[in-house]
Amino acid sequence: MAILRSLSFSHISVIFLAIISIQCGAIDEERKVHIVYMGALPESQYSLTSHHINILEEVVEESNATESLVHSYKRSFNGFAAKLNDRERQKLARKEGVVSVFPSRSLQLQTTRSWDFMGLTETVKRVPEVEGDVIIGVIDSGIWPESESFSDEGFGPPPKKWKGACNGGKNFTCNNKLIGARTYTDLGPDNTARDTVGHGSHTASTAAGNKVKDAGFYGLAQGNARGGVPSARIAAYKVCAEGGCSDADILAAFDDAIADGVDIISISLGSSLAIDMNGILTSHSAGNSGPGLGTTASVAPWLLSVAASSTDRRIIDKVVLGDGTTTTLVGTSVNSFDLKGEKFDLIYGKNASLRCSDDDVRLCKNGCLDANLVKGKVVVCDEVSKGEEPVHARALGTIMIDNRFNDFGRIYPLPATLLIPENGEKVKSYMNSTRNPQANILKSEAIHDSIAPVVASFSSRGPNVIIAEIIKPDISAPGVDILAAFSPLASPSGIKSDKRSVKYSIMSGTSMACPHVTGAAAYVKSFHPEWSPSAIKSALMTTAWPMNATKNELEFAYGAGHIDPVKAVNPGLVYETLKSDYIQMLCNINYYDSWRIREITGERISCPEASQGSAKDLNYPSMGVMVTGEKAFKSNWTRTVTNVGSANSIYKATVTSDPKLQITVNPDVLSFQALNENKTFVVTVAGGELPDNTVYSASLVWSDGTHSVRSPIVVYTN
Ligand SMILES: *[C@@H]1O[C@H](CO)[C@@H](O)[C@H](O)[C@H]1NC(C)=O
Ligand SMILES: *[C@@H]1O[C@H](CO)[C@@H](O)[C@H](O)[C@H]1NC(C)=O
Ligand SMILES: *[C@@H]1O[C@H](CO)[C@@H](O)[C@H](O)[C@H]1NC(C)=O
Ligand SMILES: *[C@@H]1O[C@H](CO)[C@@H](O)[C@H](O)[C@H]1NC(C)=O
Ligand SMILES: *[C@@H]1O[C@H](CO)[C@@H](O)[C@H](O)[C@H]1NC(C)=O
Ligand SMILES: *[C@@H]1O[C@H](CO)[C@@H](O)[C@H](O)[C@H]1NC(C)=O
Ligand SMILES: *[C@@H]1O[C@H](CO)[C@@H](O)[C@H](O)[C@H]1NC(C)=O
Repeated sequence: MAILRSLSFSHISVIFLAIISIQCGAIDEERKVHIVYMGALPESQYSLTSHHINILEEVVEESNATESLVHSYKRSFNGFAAKLNDRERQKLARKEGVVSVFPSRSLQLQTTRSWDFMGLTETVKRVPEVEGDVIIGVIDSGIWPESESFSDEGFGPPPKKWKGACNGGKNFTCNNKLIGARTYTDLGPDNTARDTVGHGSHTASTAAGNKVKDAGFYGLAQGNARGGVPSARIAAYKVCAEGGCSDADILAAFDDAIADGVDIISISLGSSLAIDMNGILTSHSAGNSGPGLGTTASVAPWLLSVAASSTDRRIIDKVVLGDGTTTTLVGTSVNSFDLKGEKFDLIYGKNASLRCSDDDVRLCKNGCLDANLVKGKVVVCDEVSKGEEPVHARALGTIMIDNRFNDFGRIYPLPATLLIPENGEKVKSYMNSTRNPQANILKSEAIHDSIAPVVASFSSRGPNVIIAEIIKPDISAPGVDILAAFSPLASPSGIKSDKRSVKYSIMSGTSMACPHVTGAAAYVKSFHPEWSPSAIKSALMTTAWPMNATKNELEFAYGAGHIDPVKAVNPGLVYETLKSDYIQMLCNINYYDSWRIREITGERISCPEASQGSAKDLNYPSMGVMVTGEKAFKSNWTRTVTNVGSANSIYKATVTSDPKLQITVNPDVLSFQALNENKTFVVTVAGGELPDNTVYSASLVWSDGTHSVRSPIVVYTN
């Protein structure tokens, strides 16, 4: 246990990554990048890299060890990444000092009204001096340093604690706003931290961009663009380019970001990479693999896992059919093209090719459309796409019909809109009814959406497939139709032939939701610089707006609900989780037994022989349990809250519950006499037989009349 306690938080996180990687990784003979984890930094860090090369030399077969080495991790933990085949990997795993070896996977980038929508208006109270000391590390596709969102007008020198560097490569200059940059992508001698895909500039400016007047995408969503904490500093760590990103590079960026002195890390990548450490809160996108259950890869309890939801501003796009009755159909897309009211010939994809089968061509599959038939026309396709095929076939525009992805607007390389099938049928019957069907696709417009916030279909859902009792995602934030800074080198539609170049663009994804939570966490931190990551996370979760449960995914879609940054500054009570609690949880869930890596079960970590607890004992701001279907059950959660509101206060518990659950709280009154005082209580839930694959939700609210501290409770069957 002594060794256990001496392990720093970061190491647990790396180990957690190992668990997930092992579960996903396949054995392979090819030489692939592996991460070799060697535990805590040794006392003397002198020549750690040559030590790594020496170890490698003893195992690599025909190749050169120096060339096999991809990264040497030596600033925040000890280890390296190297290209290894399976035999080399096995040899290395048996070496002394090596804790674990696991494959590095390739990840994809997931693809402002929003701050006002959640109540963080331009006039909210701020502590600019403290806000200016907050450093946000953005691990992403780099950044566009010349963007107005990152200009340093009015900024003083970087905070004293900053130990980072501006290693952005050729022609890359930092300033007092963008205080650091590093790059891990291998793009040859011209490699820079400059963003060429737009994603990293978008996420960084959403979290902490300056207020920029009159920003918009071709006049759409025009207004002030700003981040959650416009006075905070940004450090950009470029780990992704067009080709994606890898675990090995992301770990290298973490190694540096921690040592550089960042306060909050924002990581909007489709990764199960699970790291939070050394007092740094990491907000992480839940993923874009929804709406199926169990699709989120952001499972670790020390991460703040973020779902994406809509705001009250949506971007829509109308189609006018030329049948004299001016039938107007509303679709979704972010369409900057203005066809000036002119109507163009419509052609159904099915009628637009001699090459492909009817089924392929009606979906406008790649290579199917015949340019002679579609050139200058609007082609109707029975499936949503990125618009690549209609552009290649020189269509003037496209109307896509699909029942998926209708809840956000995508940018296409040509005039385009996406219709739900019901409206698509109207287009088709109009086409049947006339010899010369025509239509116009209008430029997009912004509309007010009164049912927001609703979790987007693409947002990954819980439950947590690794630790069933930890509800994931934790929280929801705006991730639909978000305007933020972009890279002028990137194509706004992501299609190469689209030559538009913009400084601001509209994107949707959990990637866009994550930096909203990063900004909100920084905002809370600017009022409470001494708060731990778990206190900030608890404050954000327990003050979230309850969301409208219209689907049966409930909390598995939105966690504690929609983020409310202003309320989170003054939560009243917080659920604190210490490093030792996370270690205890890892022991409780018996991962050590299931780890087949002998090195991990060996000298570095030892759990008590028989662990009595379970993951639901972790002092988490939400409460979850999975029970056996068709069987009566009884379960409980023990929680401790810390008073951060008023010294003398009395909190009373209120439970709101699905009628199938019987929930009691003991004690149901908590009397505090001092700040930072802790009180413990037990929540017990019981119920009869529940059907398989069902989810039941409830909530516990502690209230002293001023503060309302809400925790979701979820009981589900497998
Ligand atoms: C290995 O590669 C490095 C860098 O490419 C080179 O400096 C070194 O001489 C090589 N060593 C051997 C033994 O080939
Ligand atoms: C540096 O990059 C900026 C932005 O792409 C460009 O406008 C400028 O010409 C570049 N300067 C040099 C010396 O390459
Ligand atoms: C259009 O006509 C075709 C046959 O010519 C028919 O199969 C299809 O169902 C019709 N579509 C609509 C929407 O009326
Ligand atoms: C496809 O072409 C056929 C034959 O030219 C025509 O009868 C039919 O109406 C067309 N269908 C659509 C949907 O345009
Ligand atoms: C929840 O959503 C449903 C369906 O959109 C709506 O009818 C209902 O009024 C909403 N409830 C609340 C409390 O907003
Ligand atoms: C909570 O449940 C455990 C068994 O899961 C039981 O041992 C314990 O007594 C329960 N605690 C309370 C306060 O009911
Ligand atoms: C309350 O609990 C926290 C976290 O366990 C601990 O750090 C703190 O010292 C406790 N406060 C008091 C007054 O004991």
